[in-house]
Amino acid sequence: MKKFISSIIATLFVVTVYSTDGIQPSVGSPYSVIPVPEKIEITKGTYSLPVNGATFYIKGVKDNRLSNYLKASALAQSVADKAQKADILIEISSKKTDKENCEAYKLNITPKRISIKANDEAGAFYAIQTILQMSEGGTKRELQCCSVNDAPRFSYRGLLFDVSRHFRSKEFIMKQIDAMALMKLNKLHLHMTNGAGWRIEIEKYPRLTEFAAWRPYRSWMDWASDTRYCESNYPTAYGGYYTKADIREILKYAEARHITVIPDIEMPGHSEEVLAAYPELSCSGEPYRNSDYCIGKEETFTFLENVLTEVIELFPSEYIHIGGDEAVKQGWKDCPHCKKRMQEEGLKDVDELQSYLIQRIEKFVNSKGRKIIGWDEILEGGLAPNATVMSWRGTEGGIKAMKAGHDVIMTPGETCYLDFTQDAAFKEPVSIGGYTPLKNVYMYEPLEAGISNEEAKHLLGLQGNLWSEYVTEDSHAEYMYYPRAFAIAETGWSKPENKDYDKFKERALMLCSLLQSQGYTTFDLANEFGERKESLTPIEHLGKGCKVNYNEPYHAKYTANGDATLTDGLLGGWTYLDKRWQGTMKDVDVTIDLGSVQPVKYVGASFMHSAGAWVHVPKKMDVYLSEDGVNYTLVGTVWGDIPNEIPKILFKQYSVVCNGKARFIRVHATRNDRAGAWLFTDEIVIN
Ligand code: ACM
Ligand code: ZN
Repeated sequence: MKKFISSIIATLFVVTVYSTDGIQPSVGSPYSVIPVPEKIEITKGTYSLPVNGATFYIKGVKDNRLSNYLKASALAQSVADKAQKADILIEISSKKTDKENCEAYKLNITPKRISIKANDEAGAFYAIQTILQMSEGGTKRELQCCSVNDAPRFSYRGLLFDVSRHFRSKEFIMKQIDAMALMKLNKLHLHMTNGAGWRIEIEKYPRLTEFAAWRPYRSWMDWASDTRYCESNYPTAYGGYYTKADIREILKYAEARHITVIPDIEMPGHSEEVLAAYPELSCSGEPYRNSDYCIGKEETFTFLENVLTEVIELFPSEYIHIGGDEAVKQGWKDCPHCKKRMQEEGLKDVDELQSYLIQRIEKFVNSKGRKIIGWDEILEGGLAPNATVMSWRGTEGGIKAMKAGHDVIMTPGETCYLDFTQDAAFKEPVSIGGYTPLKNVYMYEPLEAGISNEEAKHLLGLQGNLWSEYVTEDSHAEYMYYPRAFAIAETGWSKPENKDYDKFKERALMLCSLLQSQGYTTFDLANEFGERKESLTPIEHLGKGCKVNYNEPYHAKYTANGDATLTDGLLGGWTYLDKRWQGTMKDVDVTIDLGSVQPVKYVGASFMHSAGAWVHVPKKMDVYLSEDGVNYTLVGTVWGDIPNEIPKILFKQYSVVCNGKARFIRVHATRNDRAGAWLFTDEIVIN
């Protein structure tokens, strides 16, 4: 009996040892993989990939895609003569399945071999990616024995590449396709047209690539102060475009890695570059006057349909992204062509005019057997009947579209915009502003409360967007994507109940090292600084909780905590989007009522500077004291000293030391002179 018990204890001990070994995110363990697989069972032993290269055998494939991919990988270069002899045996059942099942796989690693079962090549490909991560790209040979049963949560797991603001080579795109494949991302949204440059050869319209693809300045700030295009042979011409052959090469590379490249042809806004090359398509008929196409002119539709015809011939993607965001719409109001169109079509406003264009373009795209995706602005004026909505201004648009029975891809700015800085701005490269650390991206849950199961079927997935105004270098782009793209990948693939940020971070550190070893630049996650320390602990001061009267109202878009913001004891974080910073495009002019006359020795406020986002500290700040709320005395003025050109995000404390008595304190911060400047403050501290 004693012997029996001790043998049970010994068995338990052995099992326990194997389990805890395997579940650590360590090299060779399936627990090191991003996205975390759905079900992992750790089994006894390890499998060693043969040092001279593993052999593989594939049963049931239709073509050589997977075989060629494996042969070029560091994992297994040669085909075994028989299934029984293969180190990696892959069986593809080719059962008729729904889309998600196509990407599912079963992976079994025993001390003798690796076997993979999938319903489709995509699933087998993802099993290979799991092994590639476990083995650090095929360089580490010892793998933990395990059985993995894995399938994605969402069918759309995407990244946006903005090659308009800065053109990127096809080699760069293909390198990122490899990284995307490794983390099971499957949609590459290629944003090829925008005011900063047209990036795809269109045979019918050569000026798009002779002229609209080039600008005289590389730096975004330089170009912003002299926005024009130039001929491709201009001495400082900066830009570029993909030829059709380049695109075919990218598409072939992506297809082999089960990634769909979704082309994006922006309309009707963000089209300055086209309207400089073909001004007859704008309302004014002149270059550099409009950014929106004229919707009244038939030439616009001829142009867009001709362009889309060439794009559709090239790209096999089911979806064509047609933009739809941020049209200015102003030029349409005074344009005789647009006015005529509105009258003839019974369109009551410019939103409906935009919707007319989107719906007409949708009909055209549908007639070619494809579907459109548009940003959430396409909801305005009436959604095109078959459109898929990409929700970026928060999630409201996406939810509305889902409830109306439309497919949706979530990419809310606050958590999915990878152009926002990922750590304290003082240590980061210049960015457009914002603060979206890895954890915020990771914690985003696309399926919000209040969505029914039926509506949730329309949620295709999510996407991370790297807009690139301030991302000039390729290495900077990689730095912005990785590791945040890992978080997009895990949210897109893994079940919410399997997600855990602390464990994910450990895995992300490992995947960063793997990418670095393969020549990628990544953010230094191990040395993350984190949120602005001042914002972490509430502060006490004389004015805390006191009523603030606004002599100038704050902006409706950046209300923060409303009238309570400036005396709630909460300082802002790194971004003005964190609902701690209150914004205005006027002066900050407020009066704080302490409730009774009291000694006042100090009045201070901090302001943010983020030139890329037009956020500037005030030109000056005046502080007045009053005992009766009628007669005010100026007790001090502080002057701004951050030049507008400084591209870094900075925080400036304006403080006035006084020796007075007051019940009412008026703080008047005068907005910077730059046209369109914003003024953000978080708290007025009184002592
Ligand atoms: C967008 O960021 N304008 C889609
Ligand atoms: Zn017009």
